[in-house]
Amino acid sequence: MELQELRSFIRGLPKAELHLHIEGTLEADMIFALAERNKVRLPYADIESLKRAYQFTNLQSFLDLYYAGAAVLQTEQDFHDMTWAYLQRAAADGVVHTEIMFDPQTHTSRGVVIETVFAGLASALRQGQQELGISSSLIFSFLRHLSEAEAFATLEQALPLREQYADLWLSVGLDSSEKGNPPEKFQKVFARCKELGFRRVAHAGEEGPASYVRDALDLLQAERIDHGVRSEEDPALMQHLRQEQVPLTVCPLSNLKLCVVTDLKQHNLKRMLEQGLCVTVNSDDPAYFGGYILDNYMAVAQALDLSREQLVQLAQNSMNARF
Ligand code: HPA
Ligand code: ZN
Repeated sequence: MELQELRSFIRGLPKAELHLHIEGTLEADMIFALAERNKVRLPYADIESLKRAYQFTNLQSFLDLYYAGAAVLQTEQDFHDMTWAYLQRAAADGVVHTEIMFDPQTHTSRGVVIETVFAGLASALRQGQQELGISSSLIFSFLRHLSEAEAFATLEQALPLREQYADLWLSVGLDSSEKGNPPEKFQKVFARCKELGFRRVAHAGEEGPASYVRDALDLLQAERIDHGVRSEEDPALMQHLRQEQVPLTVCPLSNLKLCVVTDLKQHNLKRMLEQGLCVTVNSDDPAYFGGYILDNYMAVAQALDLSREQLVQLAQNSMNARF
């Protein structure tokens, strides 16, 4: 298949994006524009020197830059503009539905109130539904390098807004530094979120071991696993994931940029798909990892020589895995 033909074929498949950090869609030029607008000083002379810093060796080396970049977000308009820019890109890639993660603690810890964050995200998402026909929801994600008590406090701050955003805020997630921050650390807050009726996802098995995937399922009652690529190290877990059709939100270009794999040809996405797991393709932090969802599909389609049927299956899996 010609590349252009492959691209339009994938673009034409109705797709859901289920693993996307909205703060990870902040393009370098927008970081500079918002820094200017908000009078925030950046430790980079220009857009090009910021982009040159996007050379990551592992998850933490990325997170350091990602949290620094998010510091330019101050007003409701900033959160709106960032989200709207993402939605336009997603629409152009043939995304019809998206479930967007955001990190409230990254903003509240800088003095941005949670009301500002919700208002900006929500106005863009509602506009996306009306003008682009993209349906969406929000995943309120806890930072796992912080304590469970801090997660509880953030949840408490946000709960008064629940009714106002009942159409959008459906779920909670768990992200940030995986190693050394196992699922069990957040068992109580996830139990509380389940009681409150929130759907649950968690990052697991990106850098952490397969046992974190199992614990995310058993201890956090996660309904989808973000990444999960290291599940392969535990055959019994693989069997469980297949039987229960637990969705894995895999992010190929992220795995490459963060050195989870050294070459996309070695990525286990195709193997997991052929074993009947509910694997999906997503972009994670597209502004930092070199591509949005269509680029991610293209990269694995080429590196792993995926068939049309497999590409259809990946898109179908993403639609099936929606909340
Ligand atoms: N892993 C963990 N935390 C994150 C990621 C990721 O890929 N992206 C943004 N926060
Ligand atoms: Zn992620």
